[in-house]
Amino acid sequence: MRKNIIAGNWKLNTTLAEGLELATGLNEVLKGKSPKCDVVIGVPFTHLASIAAAIDTRKIGVAAQNSADKEKGAFTGEVSAAMIASTGAKYVILGHSERRAYYHETPEILQTKVNLALANGLTPIFCIGEVLEEREAGKHFQVVDKQVEASLFELSAEDFAKVVIAYEPVWAIGTGKTATSDQAEEIHAHIRATLAAKFGAKAADDCTILYGGSMNAGNAKDLVSRPNVDGGLIGGASLSVANFLPIIEAF
Ligand code: 13P
Repeated sequence: MRKNIIAGNWKLNTTLAEGLELATGLNEVLKGKSPKCDVVIGVPFTHLASIAAAIDTRKIGVAAQNSADKEKGAFTGEVSAAMIASTGAKYVILGHSERRAYYHETPEILQTKVNLALANGLTPIFCIGEVLEEREAGKHFQVVDKQVEASLFELSAEDFAKVVIAYEPVWAIGTGKTATSDQAEEIHAHIRATLAAKFGAKAADDCTILYGGSMNAGNAKDLVSRPNVDGGLIGGASLSVANFLPIIEAF
């Protein structure tokens, strides 16, 4: 059975005090509720340990937004999967289009990061998605297939079962231009078929595939009502409890 997940990606936002306020605020409002999905927040490295200690991590999973492609050693400024796991975080967002575009993360680097995350007991939330020119050229199916193949196809079936995928069309990120639920359903179904061809129908059926890109309280219900859309990865609208809670409650 696949899980539904609503995950926030705070990106480069919030001081530690602001992040703690946001996380504990969400923790408070979820206390009396039983959401029909898992809830995750992707926070800056500096906030991981404090937030994991301040909230009920059985109710809200904590995610890092990146991790090193090295285990340990002389790599100044890097944060390893083992370090992330040691804070109480359970997830790591990998392959976000912002990391691919601005920090030149290649499919090979991402493959290493996925492997290290899994080896350290973290659930990778692995992001894929095409840019506008690729969509307009009708290449979006090809693009996501390549991204999945290059970074995930070497995994064992057992490890693949621990991966969450997030489809985030780059043209919809931070633009206010959401994919329609038809567009999301179409490509999610395609991604699932690609996964089925490699890992088998059951593994593909069990894989959680999130949608990301200008998801908000107004469009979340429509998106998550589609059979192949298992939740969302939310940027801007995850930065306040008032905006994030209705998305959690879209299920
Ligand atoms: P927005 O929700 O701000 O468009 O960001 C989506 C995203 O990139 C989540 O990872």
